[in-house]
Amino acid sequence: MFHPRGPSLFELAQQALTSTERGYDLLARKFEVTPFRTPDVLLAPFFAHVFANGSVASALDVACGTGAQLKYLAPHVTRRLTGVDFSQGMLDEAARQLPDVKQLELRRLDARALPFAQEFELVTSAGAFGHFVGADEDALLDGISRALVPGGRFVFLTTPMPPVTSPSRWAAHGFNAAMHLRNALVSPPFIMFYLTFTWPEVKPALERHGFDATARDGLVEGRFAKVVAVTATRRK
Ligand SMILES: C[S@@+](CC[C@H](N)C(=O)[O-])C[C@H]1O[C@@H](n2cnc3c(N)ncnc32)[C@H](O)[C@@H]1O
Repeated sequence: MFHPRGPSLFELAQQALTSTERGYDLLARKFEVTPFRTPDVLLAPFFAHVFANGSVASALDVACGTGAQLKYLAPHVTRRLTGVDFSQGMLDEAARQLPDVKQLELRRLDARALPFAQEFELVTSAGAFGHFVGADEDALLDGISRALVPGGRFVFLTTPMPPVTSPSRWAAHGFNAAMHLRNALVSPPFIMFYLTFTWPEVKPALERHGFDATARDGLVEGRFAKVVAVTATRRK
């Protein structure tokens, strides 16, 4: 459908009719060639920006999937690089993608209940915020804030909310309505919504969880020109 080696429409429908976790387990072997993987054209300038002032000793990538971000983190994280995801299938694929990163640990964890306490200088996450809505967004931010040392950074990519006149905004609302309907009819739910974690709408939630946040635009041109890199620094 997206790529000769990618999932078929039938496979995608099967995945969407299971839980979020099981859906990713089923998708894992083909995930790298789907548009759901954060593209390198965004990740390369993003990580150049993140490491503009040098390397860090420790970093955590939340909802790491098949390791798209871990690949860019590895050369700049000297002591401990941790990737967490609740899909074992995605973690197995990440291990296959990154066989030689000595400082890497991959852990199967729910990002809504991160167990870390002031252990990382840097936390990253990409392409996963649609899975954390309502109380789950608070649980995610709470765990990330606790995982960081004071002064540590949570950096992520997001977009502004599209204007009400934008067809993409209405397409996203349509998708979200279909997901609400799907979850009302089928159990377990598949949690995936658009228009979440947009900038600057996410700023008050970041501040509530102990962060001061700023955004940098103009990272890339063309199709992804609206993407911004947010740096949320944990207050000391
Ligand atoms: C679209 S993929 C993004 C993967 C990768 N970060 C990337 O940018 O290519 C979303 C990932 O979030 C993970 N995920 C969703 N909800 C989660 C949760 N509650 N805890 C941990 N991982 C979660 C999924 O298993 C999946 O690997």
